[in-house]
Amino acid sequence: MSGLALPVMPDAGVAPSLPPTETPSAILGTYARAPLTVVDGHGAELIASDGRRYLDFTSGIAVNALGYGDPGLQSVLQDAASGLIHVSNLFRTEPAEELAQWLVMHSFADKVFFCNSGAEANEGAFKFARRWARAVGGPVKHEIVALRGSFHGRLFASLAATDRPRYRAPFRPLAGGVTIAERDLGRLADTLVPETTAALVVEPVQGEGGVRVFDPGWLRELRSLTAERRIALMLDEVQCGLGRTGWLFAYERAGIEPDLLALAKPLAGGLPMGAVLLNGEIAASIEAGDHGSTFGGGPFVSAVARYVVERIAEPALLQSVREHGEWLSATLNRLAEASPHVRGIRGVGLIWGIDIAMRAAPIIDAARETGLLILSAGDHTLRLLPPLTITRPDLERGIGILYSVLV
Ligand SMILES: Cc1ncc(COP(=O)(O)O)c(C=O)c1O
Repeated sequence: MSGLALPVMPDAGVAPSLPPTETPSAILGTYARAPLTVVDGHGAELIASDGRRYLDFTSGIAVNALGYGDPGLQSVLQDAASGLIHVSNLFRTEPAEELAQWLVMHSFADKVFFCNSGAEANEGAFKFARRWARAVGGPVKHEIVALRGSFHGRLFASLAATDRPRYRAPFRPLAGGVTIAERDLGRLADTLVPETTAALVVEPVQGEGGVRVFDPGWLRELRSLTAERRIALMLDEVQCGLGRTGWLFAYERAGIEPDLLALAKPLAGGLPMGAVLLNGEIAASIEAGDHGSTFGGGPFVSAVARYVVERIAEPALLQSVREHGEWLSATLNRLAEASPHVRGIRGVGLIWGIDIAMRAAPIIDAARETGLLILSAGDHTLRLLPPLTITRPDLERGIGILYSVLV
């Protein structure tokens, strides 16, 4: 992948160069950025402005499922760029219709709503759940229940459903009618009140909250409980969906079907796109004017997303993610035995968390210095999210670097 537009320096005769990473950035400091300016990427590697190559186990935080510079993705992007980029949602376009049809054909859903990010998908799904709940139970049936350790986004309702005091406290009051409940079936049974609860929202694998993989049996219990009480089960698969667990949708692993599903991150290969998938009953309660998005589901992003979902759904790709997951499970268990710093590992497919005794930040820095990019999930958990197309030798190389840092 190349073609990043670099600023051309006005003074003739001086070779254009990137601003050194140490110069103050004009970008608002909402992220603690690594001292690294990325200029290119190939496969599972990112290349920095100083020419250093890094093995990337972050995948743009689960976005770059196909790695960098995928030739098929490049070609679809080029074709799509020569067609319509945007048409308002007042009109139909073939790419959006076809993508929605594809998602319906491959999931539990009857209808799809397109938007631009994970938080937007969750906010939309909350609205759809409330709209349906009001229709079946009246205005008191509006509560959204989220789980301890959850992360659903940074907007006001998705933040209210996010269990991170540090993210929430400076922005109170958050949206009302959202409760955080313990991850305990007995206590949840008390919290999920049929008359007042509209939806329970769950990440089948809590990503930001420490890579907690919910047991399929537990998810089935939640499905039964919500169905019995006529509460919408909404799954947030923004991070763990679309192949990350080795299943196209993480819910398939548990053998359940949700009522609502939020997707985003890898959906359009790095272009911003989110989607809410709805079952027929909830979809039937939504009317024109209930929700909207100017950009959502434009023809350009939809055409690219159609290619991405087809690639991710290839049985061979999903099979390789499951096999990598089994290999990682064995290999990281050995790492845990060999390292005095590792307290535990959790994961499935290509989403893994490693709990460590010290703070995650210096280990992430040390891994980067040794050529591997990884993430945290909380203060004491390292998170690995390699591209879904990663090869076994690259995976081995990355885990080798982790060994050198942790053992
Ligand atoms: C499970 C989950 N939901 C929602 C979001 C928010 O997505 P976005 O940053 O696209 O708004 C994230 C982002 O990390 C996520 O992991």
